[in-house]
Amino acid sequence: MKEQGFSRKVTGAMKAIQFHEAGGPEVLQYDEVAIPAIGPGEVLVRVHAAGVNPPDWYLREGMKVMPADMRPALNFPLIPGTDMSGVVQAVAPDVSGFAVGDEVFGMLRFPGFDGRTYAEYVAAPASDLAHKPAGTDHVQAAGAPMAVLTAWQYLIDLGHDVPSPFTGQVHRPVPITPGMTVLVNGAAGGVGHFAVQLAKWKGAHVVAVASGRHEQFLRELGADEFVDYTTTQATDVVSGVDLVVDTVGGPDSSRFLSVLKRGGTMLPVFFAQYDPEETARLGITVSNIQVRSNGPQLAEIGRLLGEGGLRVGVDSTYPLPEAHSAHTRAAQGHLQGKIVLTVVS
Ligand SMILES: NC(=O)c1ccc[n+]([C@@H]2O[C@H](COP(=O)([O-])OP(=O)(O)OC[C@H]3O[C@@H](n4cnc5c(N)ncnc54)[C@H](OP(=O)(O)O)[C@@H]3O)[C@@H](O)[C@H]2O)c1
Repeated sequence: MKEQGFSRKVTGAMKAIQFHEAGGPEVLQYDEVAIPAIGPGEVLVRVHAAGVNPPDWYLREGMKVMPADMRPALNFPLIPGTDMSGVVQAVAPDVSGFAVGDEVFGMLRFPGFDGRTYAEYVAAPASDLAHKPAGTDHVQAAGAPMAVLTAWQYLIDLGHDVPSPFTGQVHRPVPITPGMTVLVNGAAGGVGHFAVQLAKWKGAHVVAVASGRHEQFLRELGADEFVDYTTTQATDVVSGVDLVVDTVGGPDSSRFLSVLKRGGTMLPVFFAQYDPEETARLGITVSNIQVRSNGPQLAEIGRLLGEGGLRVGVDSTYPLPEAHSAHTRAAQGHLQGKIVLTVVS
């Protein structure tokens, strides 16, 4: 029978990564804090693994990456992290669908920047969670949520009507149909390796752009063509593409417009600048989103993971107390899949 309410009350102290000021990886401290209480709509999760994502270091750096007028106010100390996989310990009385002992994974409260998953326990909105597929371990499940939800919400189903804070426009995914060509730039990274797999799952011909050491990884995930950007400009060898997913962005991102066919779509995942006159002349639609927490979408994704239709690439793992080393690894770049913190081994 399902255990309900606060029946298994968990109180006391836990370990968590906190930072008391913005700065480099060295500001991440392994502190003792109170186990969080759960509120309405929440469950308490014993975290087994926590995924590491770019917003974690944006927050650690004081959100300097965002335009000044969009920066949230920061009240230190802060526990970083949005993604986790773990086991439910307590369930608020108004929550249905989750019970004590369930294995769950999720991206919590994003874009709220208060997921607080770099910890032994987290209070998680049930609406942000899905059951972890049995054949997927906690490390893989913790690595998935933000990166796979980003790829899903760009390519498959946005799942909400909130306009992108960067453009004021609501994104509409372009249905990917068999035979379409999809190019993924930054294909080996968190978002990129899921975008490759989702485009392939929908029947696209997939061109992956990454540095050379990722070729075998990306071919195994389904890439039909591979371009090593360190030796070859994709714009020299690729054309007639229906859809570009660019997870790299930056000042020269508009060069990828030239690989698209007229009527094609450019999906910048990171900040990128395009001249609206040029895109109008080329007949190209540019659209972006800010990913949002979504448990039901993760449940669909969980089914795909469970069936083996989707794989989670794991770049590296670090024990929770060494979160600073995980952030140092992230800063080195060239990730192949996800960095994950292990909390219960
Ligand atoms: N819009 C949203 O809601 C949203 C959501 C999630 C993430 N993001 C943003 O999307 C970006 C990617 O996130 P992520 O988690 O996928 O990052 P990531 O895991 O660090 O992956 C980035 C990948 O880009 C590759 N790369 C770097 N320079 C490249 C270049 N010049 N050409 C091609 N590939 C290059 C890297 O490996 P190699 O260089 O070795 O190939 C790496 O695999 C971040 O800036 C993040 O902030 C946005």
